[in-house]
This record gives sequence, structure tokens and C-alpha cells, in this order.
Amino acid sequence: MRQGLFITFEGIDGCGKSLMAAMTQTWLVENGYEVLATLEPGGSDLGKVFRQMLLDSSYGSVDSHTETLLFMVDRSRHVTDVIRPALANGKIVLCDRYIDSTIAYQGGGRGLDIDELTRLNDFAINGVYPDLTIYLSLPIEQAMQRIPGTKDRLEQENVEFFARVAATYDQLADQYPHRIQRIDASGSPQDVFALVQTAIGTLFKDRGRICHG
Ligand SMILES: Nc1ncnc2c1ncn2[C@@H]1O[C@H](COP(=O)(O)OP(=O)(O)OP(=O)(O)O)[C@@H](O)[C@H]1O
Ligand SMILES: [Mg+2]
Repeated sequence: MRQGLFITFEGIDGCGKSLMAAMTQTWLVENGYEVLATLEPGGSDLGKVFRQMLLDSSYGSVDSHTETLLFMVDRSRHVTDVIRPALANGKIVLCDRYIDSTIAYQGGGRGLDIDELTRLNDFAINGVYPDLTIYLSLPIEQAMQRIPGTKDRLEQENVEFFARVAATYDQLADQYPHRIQRIDASGSPQDVFALVQTAIGTLFKDRGRICHG
């Protein structure tokens, strides 16, 4: 039985997912909710090994099929060990990246078949769909300016790659309007967070929960 709520954060590198997930966690905890904040890849203990394999450039280029399957093992373990138990315990689960990242990056970015990827996602998550996905939409140039320091293997991709990723996120938002809320992420952190609060407030209202600003 699932009693919690599952919220995911999506968008291109540097759009503000991690910051918005952290601000959301603080807000919900202040409202008395039990929150589990997690991320992909690397949300489970075993997954940390996969995160290293996926993001460390020293392993050299990883074939896109191999890359996809590594993400799927990571996700499956994450759902089984972390997400599903937390939801069963009534927690609000906040996850930084999830199924839509696979469609956007391996599908849009790398050009793998989106129907196949959707089936792999379905298999990996075994029914654990997000109640709400916050898609932080931001022009690529602005996102690049926000990313500090050295770039990991996936962040070293070129602008055309990210343009395809962003276009695929837009398609997903059109395809799943009930699950995915597209949010303009170009404003200040406070501006963007206000939009995030509105989206989450609507979900909570629909599910009979209360949350104050
Ligand atoms: N609305 C905003 N305005 C200005 N700076 C922001 C905003 N949101 C986030 N930032 C800053 O931009 C940088 C990237 O944000 P963040 O790490 O949250 O992005 P991300 O989507 O998690 O990126 P990645 O996919 O690389 O993990 C951080 O330094 C963060 O503090
Ligand atoms: Mg991040």
C-alpha cells in the first residue's frame, strides 16, 4: 500500500533541480512532513557504484546501450530499497532525476528508441510512478552559465545534445500533462521556488493534505 507522495525533479543540467529539491525539503519538513530526499543515479548503496561508473570520465566513453542498462539497474535497486519502502511508510519522497531523464538523455540526447526506453523504465520501476514531476524549463545558455567548476562526463556533451534533451522534456510535458508540471526556471531562486510551491500545493490539495507557504 502506498501512502506517501512521490515528487520528481527534472530538466537539463544546471536548471536548478538540486536547489529546488533542497528548498522543497526544507519547506515540507517545516510543515511537519516526513521527507526522504534522494537522487539518481546513486540513490541506493549499490547505486553509488553505478553513479561512479556513469559519471566518471576516467572510464572513457560508455556505449549508449550499456549506459542505459546501468541507469536501469541503478533505478530498479533505488525503487526497491529506498523509494517504495519510504512511500509505504507515508513519507514524501523527493527525487532529483528519474524516468524522464532516461527518455530525455538516452532517447532525445543519444537517439535511442523512446518506446523501448519507456518499456525499460516501466520494467525497472515496477509501478512506482511519480505523483508529480516538476520540470524546470530553462534556456540552455542560461543553464550552462549556472553550472560551476568542472563538468562530469554527461555535462561535457555539446549544445546540440542539450537542445535535443530539452526538446524531449518539452514533448514529455505535452504528453503527460497530468503528471508533469512545466515550470519557468529562469527567474531568481525565490521566484522559481514560488512556482514549485504552487505546483506541490495543488497536488497536496488534490490528495487532501495541507501545506502552508
Ligand atoms: N533560479 C536560479 N537562479 C540563479 N541561480 C540558480 C537558480 N537555481 C539554481 N541556481 C544555481 O545554479 C547552479 C546549478 O543549480 P543546481 O545544481 O540546482 O542545478 P541542477 O539542475 O541540479 O544541475 P545538475 O543536473 O548539473 O545536477 C547552482 O550553483 C545553483 O545554486
Ligand atoms: Mg543537481
